[in-house]
Amino acid sequence: MFLKKSKTKSKIEIKNNPVVKYSNSLLGEITIPGDKSISQRALLLGLLSIGETKIINILRSDDVYSTYKAIKLLGANVIEDSDELIINGLGVGNLLSPKKTINMGNSGTGCRLLLGIIASSSVTVTITGDKSLSSRPMDRVIIPLEKMGAKIISSKGMTLPITITGAGINGIIMPIDHVSKVSSAQVKSAILLAGLSARGVTSVTEPTKSRNNTETLLKQFGAKVVTNFERDASYKASIYGEAELIGSEVVVPGDPSSAAFFAVASIVTKKSKLKLKNVYLSPLRGQIYKTLQTMGANIIIKRKKTSAINCADIIVTSSKLNNIEIEANKSSLLIDEYPILAIAAACSKGRMVMRGLSELRHKESNRFEAIYYGLKKCGVRVDIEEDDIIIYGVNGRPKGGCVINANLDHRIAMAFSIMSLVSIEPIKVKGCSSIKSSFPNFFDLLSETGVNIL
Ligand code: S3P
Repeated sequence: MFLKKSKTKSKIEIKNNPVVKYSNSLLGEITIPGDKSISQRALLLGLLSIGETKIINILRSDDVYSTYKAIKLLGANVIEDSDELIINGLGVGNLLSPKKTINMGNSGTGCRLLLGIIASSSVTVTITGDKSLSSRPMDRVIIPLEKMGAKIISSKGMTLPITITGAGINGIIMPIDHVSKVSSAQVKSAILLAGLSARGVTSVTEPTKSRNNTETLLKQFGAKVVTNFERDASYKASIYGEAELIGSEVVVPGDPSSAAFFAVASIVTKKSKLKLKNVYLSPLRGQIYKTLQTMGANIIIKRKKTSAINCADIIVTSSKLNNIEIEANKSSLLIDEYPILAIAAACSKGRMVMRGLSELRHKESNRFEAIYYGLKKCGVRVDIEEDDIIIYGVNGRPKGGCVINANLDHRIAMAFSIMSLVSIEPIKVKGCSSIKSSFPNFFDLLSETGVNIL
């Protein structure tokens, strides 16, 4: 199978926990694999559309593979043709009953968005996940989806496994006006997707605007979505229900969160110059590059326009950085980048203050703790104050020489592997297999840029 086959493609055996050796420079140019958020949404919208959806440059990773298997179990017809995936969907609300439990692996996005889609159907589905996903909070989507009429049986503490019966079973899906306490694209997307078959307008308001790929793609597939900022700067997205989606073409750009590991690797090494090609840089996903530039990084952005999506080549050169303070209102814009930003901060000069990081506790692992304990193990001084992390940069090479357990968290595994590039002694990262959930060729690309990997 197209996606499954790709799982064996990486040259360096990830499951052996490769150790990244000290390196002076990363050179050349690399193409960053497709964006995980867009790849998963394109698959799900393909399932809900009438007619053909074509996805070009889909990310071939474990999380995307989980969503791919799910849409097939729910009735999508998928044809795999060299670099493209063609989906013939069933239309909004028209899912088939899957023959078995759907296992979403490590994928929070796939799982939460799928719950929204099933909520607006008439089928009953049981969803499971790996140990990490099974410990993540699902109340944030269960509560609003139940208000819309879905029947949900969850495990202790509103976690997976979950059995959900769509509200369509009772004939009517209720529109809701939901105010979310957290800025979360996953929560917003689950509710908007459920709202597709609701009778009326379904709205979600979040404290600050999170990534808007769902809103953009829903519009592209023909739904009426209206968005605006409220007086208090909160953001509201509304979908007009009983919508119909028409298949469309999605060209997936490179993932800016994956590219960030290479950007920081190039900054913290001594004589690097690396071009990261085809990276998706919307205002909601490019904040990491702005932040690194504010810290003094030499980053040149060459913008392109591919399909309707913003793409750029990013050229990153070794730089000396000064740490800064990042306010809590930026946290949803940097949510996936804090692990690698923390590594950059550890090598930089001065005190880095990263505020308002409570959501980091609910990622693939408790990233708030993983950053704190991980940096301490590497010999870096770190303080925590409520939801803030304060890092005292060593202005050079941190000590390293420790073992970091990634705890099924791909971004923790990649962040500390990059730390091993600069640390005085190498860092052994346990659980590197998790990297396959977003970036299966991470080590291959590192080695292509000239890095030695043991
Ligand atoms: C994602 C949203 C974010 C992010 C995750 C991908 C998405 O999660 O951390 O990696 O594709 O919607 P939250 O929405 O829970 O913050």
